[in-house]
Amino acid sequence: MLCKKALILGARGQLAGALRRATPEGVEVVALERAQLDICDEASIRSILEQYRPDVVWNGAAFNAVDRAQSLEGAREAMHINALGPTMLALACRDYDVRLVHFSTDFVFDGRKTTPYLEDDATNPLSIYGASKLAGERAVLAASPRHLAIRVQRLFGPMVDTTTGSGSAAKPGGNFPFLMLRLGSERDCVRVVDDQIGTPTYNPDLARASWQLLEGSEGGLFHLSNAGEVSFADYAETIFRIKGVSCKVERISSQLYGAPAARPLYSTFSNQKAHSCGVEPLRSWDAALREFLDNYA
Ligand SMILES: NC(=O)c1ccc[n+]([C@@H]2O[C@H](COP(=O)([O-])OP(=O)(O)OC[C@H]3O[C@@H](n4cnc5c(N)ncnc54)[C@H](OP(=O)(O)O)[C@@H]3O)[C@@H](O)[C@H]2O)c1
Repeated sequence: MLCKKALILGARGQLAGALRRATPEGVEVVALERAQLDICDEASIRSILEQYRPDVVWNGAAFNAVDRAQSLEGAREAMHINALGPTMLALACRDYDVRLVHFSTDFVFDGRKTTPYLEDDATNPLSIYGASKLAGERAVLAASPRHLAIRVQRLFGPMVDTTTGSGSAAKPGGNFPFLMLRLGSERDCVRVVDDQIGTPTYNPDLARASWQLLEGSEGGLFHLSNAGEVSFADYAETIFRIKGVSCKVERISSQLYGAPAARPLYSTFSNQKAHSCGVEPLRSWDAALREFLDNYA
């Protein structure tokens, strides 16, 4: 086993919780939430590395308020947490000879492709959030060839019980399936965009694959997602069908929806590079969704 001790940061986050639950047997884990370690506090990062001496740091911390990042205040926060924080983390990890695994996003792309995105496809973020995440992944990769940056998208899964690290059922607004189920119970019809295509990705599947990638790769940039692709409108209809919810989905364009931040209209990933490093192909998004809804919603 290459890794004996792991540190998970941003531990209240949904992916961080899944990473904790997917920790291979025999690996000791310390999970710290924001109140215990702010990834933008360089002195604290170094003192935590000195104290715990992990083999790997998983950075689950991020500013994910995509629309809020279009305002000056939100942009400042996004750049601080998504770019500056990971930069300090990456340099500190390099100095302590610790591997860092950082997560990025499909929003680094402009969505003009019509076939799955490869890791070396040109980036062109359409939003401040996307630009902040791109700056973060670049800094992580520039700090050490042993660090990993994994682009992910459309995460869903159980929320985390931070005291035990175990999964729990719905908390309001947590992610798209929970949001749709809440709206579906309150309304007869929801308006959902039908022109943004990508892949909903189940945190437990992603976490398992990320641990495999840590073991199987030397470092670098990777894409990981479940298999298949779907629009948000079809995704919402699938959720309602699985749960027997009678709410209708009214299909609208992204332009009509009018979110402050533009999103890529197409952002499906190729996972080929991760597969070539020994990551087992992830199942289809809808098989994962069914398992999730059966167990947690
Ligand atoms: N969710 C998605 O659909 C999606 C899509 C593409 C990429 N990603 C990327 O995937 C990764 C995981 O996302 P996620 O959905 O699991 O995130 P999440 O649930 O929003 O959790 C992020 C966590 O980061 C913590 N955090 C924020 N600022 C921090 C700081 N300065 N220091 C320490 N912790 C801090 C937050 O703490 P509090 O709880 O205290 O606020 C929160 O618990 C992120 O890199 C994200 O950008 C996510």
